[in-house]
Amino acid sequence: MIDQATIDRIFDTADIVDVISDFVQLKRRGTNHIGLCPFHNEKTPSFNVSQSKGIYKCFGCGKGGNVVSFVMEHEHMAYPEALKYIAGKYGIPVHEEKPTEEEVQKRDHRESMMIVNEFARKYFCQQLLETDRGRAVGLAYFRERAINDQMIDKFDLGFCPEGQDVFTNDALGKGYKLEFLESTGLTIVRENWRADRFSGRVMFPIHSVAGRVIGFGGRTLSTEKKIAKYLNSPESDVYHKSKVLYGIFQAKRKIVQEDNCYLVEGYTDVISLHQKLIENVVASSGTSLTEDQIRLIKRFTSNVTILYDGDPAGIKASLRGIDMFLEQDMNVRVVLFPEGEDPDSFARANTPESVKEYIESEKQDFIHFKTKLLLEDAQNDPIRRSELVTGIVKSIGVIDDQIKQSVYIKSCSKLLDIGEDVLYSELQKIRKRRLEEKQRKNRQKTLHKQDNVIPVVPAHVSNVYMEEHEKEIIRVLLLYGDMLIFEDEVGKKVRVAEYIIGEIRNDELEFENLVYNRLFETAAELLNEGKVIEKHVFINHSDASIAKLCAELLTNRYSLDPYWAKHGSQIETEDQKLPTDVPNLIVQYKRKILEKGFEIKVKAMLEAEKSKAHSDEIIQLQTELKDLLEKIRQLSDLNGMVILK
Ligand code: CTP
Ligand code: MN
Repeated sequence: MIDQATIDRIFDTADIVDVISDFVQLKRRGTNHIGLCPFHNEKTPSFNVSQSKGIYKCFGCGKGGNVVSFVMEHEHMAYPEALKYIAGKYGIPVHEEKPTEEEVQKRDHRESMMIVNEFARKYFCQQLLETDRGRAVGLAYFRERAINDQMIDKFDLGFCPEGQDVFTNDALGKGYKLEFLESTGLTIVRENWRADRFSGRVMFPIHSVAGRVIGFGGRTLSTEKKIAKYLNSPESDVYHKSKVLYGIFQAKRKIVQEDNCYLVEGYTDVISLHQKLIENVVASSGTSLTEDQIRLIKRFTSNVTILYDGDPAGIKASLRGIDMFLEQDMNVRVVLFPEGEDPDSFARANTPESVKEYIESEKQDFIHFKTKLLLEDAQNDPIRRSELVTGIVKSIGVIDDQIKQSVYIKSCSKLLDIGEDVLYSELQKIRKRRLEEKQRKNRQKTLHKQDNVIPVVPAHVSNVYMEEHEKEIIRVLLLYGDMLIFEDEVGKKVRVAEYIIGEIRNDELEFENLVYNRLFETAAELLNEGKVIEKHVFINHSDASIAKLCAELLTNRYSLDPYWAKHGSQIETEDQKLPTDVPNLIVQYKRKILEKGFEIKVKAMLEAEKSKAHSDEIIQLQTELKDLLEKIRQLSDLNGMVILK
């Protein structure tokens, strides 16, 4: 428990701009500061911080609060931990009364995992520096790699003792629970057996942006090929591999200062560069880059320089990932190290000045780099050259900024010896495709927002029928019931019948025409039993009126479009348009019902006013009318927009 006086002092001292600046690049605008929101993905800043009021607010995602709630939200800390974090930043002493048994238990799971990680970090450091074995094995290894003491300290490097479960036993002896040793992945627990995950390895703690240890990488000292060189903490509530970058805590201030971030592959690359005074560097830790990681960098700078070791295969494999930087409107540069060298080995063999010099002189724009690389590859093979053009223009195409685009078109046209107009027309094609893709996604989003259910004829609208739409719905159900129209979010394939029946049932709608109703019920039953909805079941139905209706629906004007008959497959057939037509049919049907319902309600309202009805009744009607109006508006927005894909 932190006492109130200390809490007050923390709030009084903390400068919200200062605190948030450790995580987000803020710029002054008028009396406020703005930046890219760290809680959602955005390209233009809507994250506002008011220094004088001590609050932040994102107009994009709605998140907001004070300095402590920011740290809680951003760092996934509990309230007291966030207070302590800020107190630590400003050197405010926090006297904590010893927590009671109950309070200790209450600390949430995550916090406990963090605490176990922190214990492990200290433990591994001590092992490395203060035990004979640690010094003889672990420290000797770091020395051999020429990693100095400052780096060992800065990166909290450590050593996990050999043996089956030395670390685990020590941790248990200190009162740490096996539950959290297991959930952090430090201990591997089986039924009647347990082991230290990192036994005998040198340890690289992985820090969150705020500097808390959320996971570990451990390198084996063995040269045995079968043993994995690095082991990493498993995914857990505190460690999400795809969201962290190794070194971000140690690098973030320098990244902002230099307005550039170096990206390397491995733990040792980061450390060796730091040792050569290049400190704005993070590592993707050997996996392909994710969007989250790119966003993390983007919170500090829009410039990234990728440091590659000179392995052509590896470079080609990563080209695609780099386009993601461009999509996020970042400037990407590339530095290639001599074949056989990685940033670690290169830095080790050179002075800080010459490493910097090398990077400065070798860095090149990513798109130019890619162009040259692929050009070399394609030589004079015309097919590969044309693929190459598409590939390059694709990269240019993801850039939002049109001025930047035209600069690239110019320079790449020279490099490729291809006219600018050719590149522009290629770009146009790609842009069009991207636009369509975007629109499609947006539509999908609209629909997903409704949970794939189109809202919603309320219960106060009843006995409203739309004969014509009913008939069309039945016809589609009958003809196409068994066809797939889309896959939902979890990959489940949905058929026309399922969709229609779901929509009708969801709003508890019924058809006026009793034959339609019976046919609908029959189809619903078949669906329920997992059977196919086949026309002949209905055509041969024992209920004569159903059979008759089928015959009519299947043979009338709808069955073959005369235009289509004449021109063959020139135009889309009806079943190709189902993903658009079916939902829109439902939208129109429901909208008609709502409009009719609205009319009825207006009449009822006039009646009620005329007869001086009780005000409750009038208010009730007013609410219902408002509700209907809102829903009609929603459906009008959806009209023609819904595509199931
Ligand atoms: N990596 C991993 N698991 C492995 C191999 C690699 O997680 N089995 C990750 C590590 O983060 C490593 C990075 O990928 O730092 C790069 O791998 P690699 O180039 O093989 O290792 P180096 O960083 O060069 O390590 P070292 O110099 O110690 O060999
Ligand atoms: Mn290496």
